[in-house]
Amino acid sequence: MKNKNEQTNTEELVKKAMKMLEFSYAPYSNFHVGAALLGTNNKIYTGCNIENAAYGPSNCAERTAFFKAVSEGCKEFRAIAIVGGPKGIVSDYCPPCGVCRQVMAEFCTRDFKIILAKSMTEQKIFTLEELLPQSFSLQ
Ligand code: THU
Repeated sequence: MKNKNEQTNTEELVKKAMKMLEFSYAPYSNFHVGAALLGTNNKIYTGCNIENAAYGPSNCAERTAFFKAVSEGCKEFRAIAIVGGPKGIVSDYCPPCGVCRQVMAEFCTRDFKIILAKSMTEQKIFTLEELLPQSFSLQ
């Protein structure tokens, strides 16, 4: 059972992640992803996926959000909401790729919450520990 604050946070994060679908630049895969990341400073950093004709330079929505936050001085986080789907139509959950999980491990504690949403009412919440157990770290 989530407390009222967590519920409000989750709702706002999912709403902001959904909004980011329209900014997604995905002309090659047509798969749009949106993310909203909550810092411990209570600010929300949003992101979308940004593709490139050379494929390799493409960036996932989650990493866009993390890099925006870190570049603005925020390095500690509580939760991220992620949504995605073909042409921006969300009909299934969109779990983060392995590279994004590793970026989360760099900045987040094991209890960092990863909120996957299919709609405003259908959500699955995981901890980072659940999605990336035994993660590599130098610290
Ligand atoms: N993508 C993300 O933005 N986040 C993920 O966690 C999975 C994949 C993007 C990358 C690419 O632009 C498109 O989805 C299809 O792979």
